[in-house]
Formats: sequence, structure tokens, C-alpha cells
Amino acid sequence: MTKPRVLITRNIFPEAIKAIEQVAEVDLWTDEMPPSREVLLEKSKGIDGILCLLTDKIDGEFMDNAGPQLKVISQIAVGYNNIDIAEATKRGIPVGYTPDVLTHATADFAFTLLMAAARLVIPGHISAHDGSWKTWHPLHFLGQDIYGSKIGIVGMGRIGFEMAKRSTGFDMDILYYDVNRREDLEKKLKMTHVGMDELLTQSDFVSIHVDLNPTTQHMFSTEQFKQMKNSSVIINAARGPVIDHMALYEALKNKEIAGAGLDVTDPEPIPNDHPLLTLDNCLIVPHIASATIETRRAMSNLAAANLINGLKGTSLSTCVNPEVDN
Ligand code: DGY
Repeated sequence: MTKPRVLITRNIFPEAIKAIEQVAEVDLWTDEMPPSREVLLEKSKGIDGILCLLTDKIDGEFMDNAGPQLKVISQIAVGYNNIDIAEATKRGIPVGYTPDVLTHATADFAFTLLMAAARLVIPGHISAHDGSWKTWHPLHFLGQDIYGSKIGIVGMGRIGFEMAKRSTGFDMDILYYDVNRREDLEKKLKMTHVGMDELLTQSDFVSIHVDLNPTTQHMFSTEQFKQMKNSSVIINAARGPVIDHMALYEALKNKEIAGAGLDVTDPEPIPNDHPLLTLDNCLIVPHIASATIETRRAMSNLAAANLINGLKGTSLSTCVNPEVDN
């Protein structure tokens, strides 16, 4: 019997690839950079499954080009805004993703960004290295207090809740905004559901944990930054386009807010000449919140398991569109 054919669009942990090779003929894209659209379409003709990344656009055109035998799309990420879920569902194709396994690493990193941005870790590091550190000075490198401050968490899902838990270690007051009040989680942790206006005006730190969809695109723009305290710091470890980057630039430059810590940008990578890169109160790292060895291994294995289950016609462990899951 011939094995099903799959495309894996980037190198993942070897044990995950080996597991897939047991059941399928694998075409592995080993370049560091993603395949171009043309190459992606070319390579996906006739495949039965794909293991893809957030940098691959998986839309109706992709699915039609792959052909009606396409059984499963397995994304190695919790976010899946690169995939047209409605188109997949219409064609009866289950879409796997990797929630849960990256929750702790991502929340840890969001808190890392919060602390680093609040306490000017990167400007301090640069100063220690470039010779501009001349003396201890009572007025140099003054950041924001974290202990006992107020955090506003936007999006109380799995990662938002873990961010809240970490905030309790610093005795922070926790406000959160979510379209759904999470009374179940409020029973576990002292936190208050508020509207966006209250969250923005009251919080010392605003941490974004929503997915990217038409209602969250540019959820943070000029108006929101104006509402925030001049001393506040914004953290984004969700998706870049949730923040209007030119509005953020103006807010940071004009000291309407004190700082930002961004794991994600719009676009990615952020262009070299982007004005945000000229600011020393904007900490930017290259979308690495889930990048620990354990977490990326677990993401690789879960994405592989979802792909294999989809090929076999059994149900996926974590499926975005369970209505078409087997
Ligand atoms: C995700 O999973 O969506 C992250 O952005 C990458 O881990």
C-alpha cells in the first residue's frame, strides 16, 4: 500500500519527523526561510497532509491547489490566523494546532518582557557594554515599580490566566478585559473583570493575550494609548497587528506611555528602518515567547500527532474545527 504524502514546511524536532515518516512519505522543507508562495503551491499538489507554520498562508487557493485528497492541516502554533479555517471547514478538513503545551513558556516570557521593559534591562545592558556607564547615579535608568502595581490583562484565555498567576507573585492588582467574563477563573484567583476604558486608565502594565481576528486588529491605537497612564508599559506576546505600530511609535516618542515590550510585530520581521527601532523605550524580540527546548519539542510532537491522526482518519488531539474532525 502506498504511503500518504505530506509536506512539512520547516525543520522541527527530529523525533516528530521520524514519527511522521513511519506512516507517510515526507517532503521536508529544510531552508531557514519559508517556501515562497509559488514553491508552497507547487510542493503541495497532491499531498494528503501538511504540517505548517504561522508564516505559511493556507487559504482556499492553497487547498484547491493541493486537491480534494487533502485530509489534514496541522499547524505548529496555538495561533492560526494564517489559516482560513472557514475554507478548511467547508472542505471537511480538520485543522490541528498546539495549545496548552506552550502556555507556560509564553506566559513566562510575557512576564520576562514586562520586567525587562519596566526595569530598562536592555538600555542598561547596552550602557554596560558600550562604555557609556560612567558612574552610579541616583537619576539614571529609572524604571517602573513592578511589585504592588496594577496589571491589566487583555484576553483571559489560557496564557492570560497564567500571566495573572505570575502577577500574584509580585502582589499585583489584577484587572482583566475579555469579551466573556471568566467567573470560573475569578474563583481561582483574585482578579476583576473591567471594561477596556477602566483597564487602560487604571493599569500600570497592560499585557495583550488575545488572538488576531478582525475585532482585535489595531485594538490598540492612538485613542487607547492616550487613555493609558504616562508611566504605563504595554506588553504584546500575542500577535503584532493587535497594535497599530505607528500609533505606538507616536505614544512612546511623545512619552504618552513609558515603554513597550514586544515579542511580536507587524510585519515580521520588523523592517530595519522601522521608526520603533529608533526608540530605547521599545524592547523588541523576534517572536520567541514559546522558544524553549521543552516547549518546542512538545509543539513538534503534538503537531506530528495531529498530522498522523488526520492521515489515519482518527480524531485530532487538539482541533480548531471539531465539527469536521473524525
Ligand atoms: C503561537 O503558537 O501562536 C506562537 O505565536 C508561536 O509559538
